[in-house]
Amino acid sequence: MKILVLGGGGREHALVWKLRESPRVEKIWCAPGNGGIAAEAECVAIDAGDVGAIVAFAEGTHPDLTIVGPELPLVNGLTDAFRQRSWAVVGPSKQAAQLEGSKIFSKEFLARHHIPTAKMYGTYDSSADVYKALNSVAWPVVIKADGLCAGKGVFLAPDVAAAKDFVERVMEKNELGPGGRRVLLEETLEGEELSFIILTDGNRYAPLVPTRDHKRVFDGNQGPNTGGMGAYSTDELLPDDLRETIRLTIVEPTLSGLAADGIHYQGFLYIGLMLTKSGPKVLEFNCRLGDPEAQAILARLDFDLAEVLSDVAAAGHLDPSKLRWKAGAGTCVVLASGGYPGKFESGKRIEGLTSLGQITGVKVLHAGTKLLGDAVVTNSGRVLGVTAAAATLEDALAAAYEAASRIHFEGMHYRRDIGAHPTRQKAAGD
Ligand SMILES: Nc1ncnc2c1ncn2[C@@H]1O[C@H](COP(=O)(O)OP(=O)(O)O)[C@@H](O)[C@H]1O
Ligand SMILES: [Mg+2]
Repeated sequence: MKILVLGGGGREHALVWKLRESPRVEKIWCAPGNGGIAAEAECVAIDAGDVGAIVAFAEGTHPDLTIVGPELPLVNGLTDAFRQRSWAVVGPSKQAAQLEGSKIFSKEFLARHHIPTAKMYGTYDSSADVYKALNSVAWPVVIKADGLCAGKGVFLAPDVAAAKDFVERVMEKNELGPGGRRVLLEETLEGEELSFIILTDGNRYAPLVPTRDHKRVFDGNQGPNTGGMGAYSTDELLPDDLRETIRLTIVEPTLSGLAADGIHYQGFLYIGLMLTKSGPKVLEFNCRLGDPEAQAILARLDFDLAEVLSDVAAAGHLDPSKLRWKAGAGTCVVLASGGYPGKFESGKRIEGLTSLGQITGVKVLHAGTKLLGDAVVTNSGRVLGVTAAAATLEDALAAAYEAASRIHFEGMHYRRDIGAHPTRQKAAGD
């Protein structure tokens, strides 16, 4: 098989890493890829969101299977263009990707199908309307920009002044671009978050192992939100009764709701959950694997990824029993550029990458790197995802942190508490 992977972050490096383990894979292209992927696949300098350019590339190279990593190609209609040509591709259609591309679309979908989620106060096209609505909400209130905002479109507002400031930046100053033209207000939920991702061919589905990510930049969940500073996966995140509740109240109503709405959904569906006192509730949908959740999940993979994904894409014959997972745990610790998620500099030389061979179970996945001569240099805010799998979470974390301690670049920072249970953490701070 010849496979084309779209995207150039840690999630895509993880996909390439596992696809290469399949004996049936003879060639992988990655567009655009990065400095680490370049050692394992042929990187092609095409923007993953440029549908025309990707189609032209596939026309010339005939991949047997194309796997879409990030959301932008989906929202831009890449999978529709491929399916029109009968090319095998993993990822939902442009219409289905509205579940991620429009938070208002997804809230309306959840309400229509009676799927548990935060109560919505309303949706608004103008800041004046939001200001009016703020008179009758409970505090803190959650404000969400409707469109894609690269993780910056959600704000938990403690009071009117903070809410107005956010709305002004998003709706009047357009700081987040067109994604901020409309917003919604919803109630604040309390609980722990859980990422529940399924793979579906539009007919059958299989859940992946559960994960939790760490969004805030500093230890103890302090500081601003990031794209994700780390993640971990253990089966303990999901006791059997919770798994069953999620299946019955969320996953199956979502899939049957999509079918009832005439939306054929194929690919990965990420369900962001808040585990509240009154049960799990949907925070959001993403139409793809999470990053860095994918790294922690794929570290535990124990099946032929190329085979399963071509079952999903080409034949539409997903066999859920083929998805097997290593017991124990997977984790990913993100090493970030100095200043991230604020301003940061790129082009810093990364040292220590070649000294990690001895640490069992560790794989350093590149998120934002590029090659400069024979050096690997930083090229983004999130630079590396040090990924490890082991029989226990403690062992996986120890291996990942040992590897992280041997890597260095100017300004590098990372969280030291990936995998720490939030309630345990709180108790320890009391
Ligand atoms: N209703 C809510 N109550 C409490 N926290 C929320 C709520 N909605 C979102 N959040 C918090 O904001 C984060 C980002 O929101 P989310 O809907 O996942 O949007 P995005 O990932 O697109 O920024 C969530 O991971 C969660 O921590
Ligand atoms: Mg989210």
